[in-house]
Amino acid sequence: MRIGIVGSGFIGKSLANLAVKQSYQVMISNSRGPETLTGIAYEIGCQSGTVEEAVSFGDVVVVAIPLKNIFQLTPEMFEGKIVIDANNYYPHRDGQIAELDEHRNTTSGLLARHLPQAKVVKALNAILAKDLTEDGRPSGAPERRALPIAGDDKQAKEVVSHLVDQLGFDVVDAGPLSESWRFERAKPAYCIPLDPGGLISALAKAERTVELPDGSWRTKSS
Ligand SMILES: NC(=O)c1ccc[n+]([C@@H]2O[C@H](COP(=O)([O-])OP(=O)(O)OC[C@H]3O[C@@H](n4cnc5c(N)ncnc54)[C@H](OP(=O)(O)O)[C@@H]3O)[C@@H](O)[C@H]2O)c1
Repeated sequence: MRIGIVGSGFIGKSLANLAVKQSYQVMISNSRGPETLTGIAYEIGCQSGTVEEAVSFGDVVVVAIPLKNIFQLTPEMFEGKIVIDANNYYPHRDGQIAELDEHRNTTSGLLARHLPQAKVVKALNAILAKDLTEDGRPSGAPERRALPIAGDDKQAKEVVSHLVDQLGFDVVDAGPLSESWRFERAKPAYCIPLDPGGLISALAKAERTVELPDGSWRTKSS
């Protein structure tokens, strides 16, 4: 399976590294063009391309860019693609987005609306980039960390679940995309290392209007 990655920052690079180690073919991209990624791609052992090339390359496409920039993506490129939405909403970076502040939509809902012909699955947003690199374990390992996913397309969720498992993590299905707020920023399941049972409890505990204190999820001990 081939993975195209839009966004080659902390999370895009971590994911590319991990996927290459699991023998996936990977193409990374950013906003400035593949010539700015030559060295990084060489180090990782993947290809680099334009955003259009990376999207076209991927059987699965990961969008890992600042949330405010998702509206810069050209929707037609994503027709029929399985898209992993790894993005989070940080108002100090993204500006205030009223429909998120008022809990009328989710971050994935915004992406799915912008890319109506894509099959969007929320995944890989609720883990720090460094943990993605360090916390993966083979299937069946004791206390294996679990990651949440959400989406509306059953087949797309199966593909993404298999990928997440191959990357070293158990998967907990949090339901349709409309439930993906349960593992957005500042919810109990956000970026806290949990096994499957702990993650199911954390998802159930989430309250739509309640946020954990800013930054409380940044350390493993929190
Ligand atoms: N960092 C983490 O631990 C982490 C964990 C989970 C989820 N996330 C989420 O993942 C997203 C990316 O985070 P990050 O920390 O990786 O950010 P980052 O290090 O700032 O990297 C952002 C990347 O996105 C690219 N980009 C920006 N706008 C683009 C566009 N319109 N088209 C193509 N590429 C574009 C940038 O390319 P240029 O440099 O060329 O502009 C850069 O490669 C955010 O939504 C973040 O909340 C982050």
